[in-house]
This record gives sequence, C-alpha cells and structure tokens, in this order.
Amino acid sequence: MPCVVTGAARGIGLAIAERLAVEGGKVALWDISERRLEPAVQALRDRGLRVVGIACDVSDRGAVADAMARSAALLDGPVGVLVNNAVWARFVALEALDSDLVDRMLAVGLKAALWTTQAAVQQMRVRGGGSIVNLSSTTAYRPVALSAAYAAMKAGVMGLTRALAMELAADRIRVNTVIPGMVGTPASRAQFDEVTLARREAAMPLGRFGTPAEIAAAVAFLASEDGGYVHGAELVVDGGWTVPSH
Ligand SMILES: NC(=O)c1ccc[n+]([C@@H]2O[C@H](COP(=O)([O-])OP(=O)(O)OC[C@H]3O[C@@H](n4cnc5c(N)ncnc54)[C@H](O)[C@@H]3O)[C@@H](O)[C@H]2O)c1
Repeated sequence: MPCVVTGAARGIGLAIAERLAVEGGKVALWDISERRLEPAVQALRDRGLRVVGIACDVSDRGAVADAMARSAALLDGPVGVLVNNAVWARFVALEALDSDLVDRMLAVGLKAALWTTQAAVQQMRVRGGGSIVNLSSTTAYRPVALSAAYAAMKAGVMGLTRALAMELAADRIRVNTVIPGMVGTPASRAQFDEVTLARREAAMPLGRFGTPAEIAAAVAFLASEDGGYVHGAELVVDGGWTVPSH
C-alpha cells in the first residue's frame, strides 16, 4: 500500500515511515530538509525497505499537490495512507510571539494537513478508501510552559481530524489522531539540560519518556486493517501523563 509520511527525515516521522515499510508498505518520506532526508531514506533502502524521499515544504499547497502526484507515480499506485507528522515548533513567551512565527507554526502544523488531505483524498477515492493519521500532542490539553501557540495548533489538529472524519466517512476514508506525550527524540531532549530531563522523566507515571517506535506502533495500528472500525478517534500514547490524578 502506498503511504505518505510528512516530516519523515528524523524523529517520530522517520520511525513511522520505517514501521509502515517494515509492515509491507511502500512509503514516501516527505521533508523540507533534503540534507536530512537523503541519508534517512538510504538507511531504510539499505535494509531492503521500499521507500522514496521527496523534498517538500508542506506549507506550500502547490508543492503538496505535486509531491502527492509524484508519490503515487514513484510508489506505483494511488496513496492509501497519509500521516500528517511535520511540525515547525517554537516554545516562546506570549510577549515574544510575533505574526511570522505564529503563521509559520500554523502553516506547517495545521494548515498543511488540509492541503495534504485535499491531495490524498483524490487518490484514496480511486482506491475506494484510505486512512489518515494526524499527530497532535498532550500539550493541547495539558499545556507546558511557553506553549500557547503550539497548544493552539495541536488543539486545531484534533478539531480538524474530527471534522474530516465526518466529511470523509462516505468515501471510506478513516481519519484519526495520535496524541503523543513527551517522546525522547534527540531534538526534544536537546531542549533541556540533563537535570531538567531527569526531573521530567521521573514525573512520568511510567518513569520514562516514550520512544518514536512506540508512537509509530500506534500510527501503524490506525493505518492498518486492524484499525478498520476506528474513526474520528484520539489515541493517547503518553505513559499516563494525562491521567487525571486529583
Ligand atoms: N517529540 C515529542 O516529544 C512530541 C510530543 C508530542 C507530539 N509530537 C508531535 O510528533 C510529531 C513529530 O515530532 P518530532 O519530535 O519527531 O519532530 P522533529 O522536529 O524531530 O521533526 C519534524 C520534521 O518535520 C520537518 N519539517 C519541518 N517543517 C517542514 C515543512 N514545512 N515541510 C515538511 N517538513 C517539515 C523537519 O525537517 C523534521 O524532519 C510532530 O507533529 C510533533 O508535534 C512530538
């Protein structure tokens, strides 16, 4: 099954692409960073996985339409799985937010999912159905410091998912959200010093951050036939971080 994963050159997106390919998918890894994309794709190819890399800025609607058409051509068939994972995130104080920063965050993390979905739906209709998985964050409803713009963007992802689930049900296109808690990617770890990291990790009910592979497993479930009756849902993968404890 041809699959598209956005923001797949590193971190969670790369783990999702790997997992889908290991399960037999033909996967297009999209990313704005060609420099990171090339070695990531090569490493998966070296393991015999069927993947292609496509440089694409997902905030550019025209580029997204082109990339979706190229993905289908390179993967020999209409796309059946779309994972909206790309993010451009900045955690800054309210006073430091400016219009450019907020626009960029929303363009990559929220509006782009509309453009990718528009393009993918045409192909999924040809297939008679498909599965779309959008990445949100527990920050949408349990905010961390300096997260106003990020939390708003991720809350938007949940609303978008539910609305599209209603709109696309008749086309047999399932739309779901995966909501990760704190995941220990190199980029997320780099935001904190060792002491803060250890304190945050200890605060997790399971005593550790999640791994990219654990998020990828949830995405793969929703993308697969096993998740065939899951639609418009939010799958929280956070080690218990958002379990109410009062
Ligand atoms: N890491 C965490 O702890 C965590 C927690 C909750 C939710 N999430 C969500 O999971 C997803 C992946 O997170 P991550 O930590 O792996 O992110 P990351 O920053 O490590 O990777 C994001 C990828 O998106 C790419 N990208 C950025 N702008 C782009 C654009 N305009 N077009 C195409 N690609 C673009 C980047 O080049 C990068 O490869 C995101 O949606 C994030 O919000 C992550």
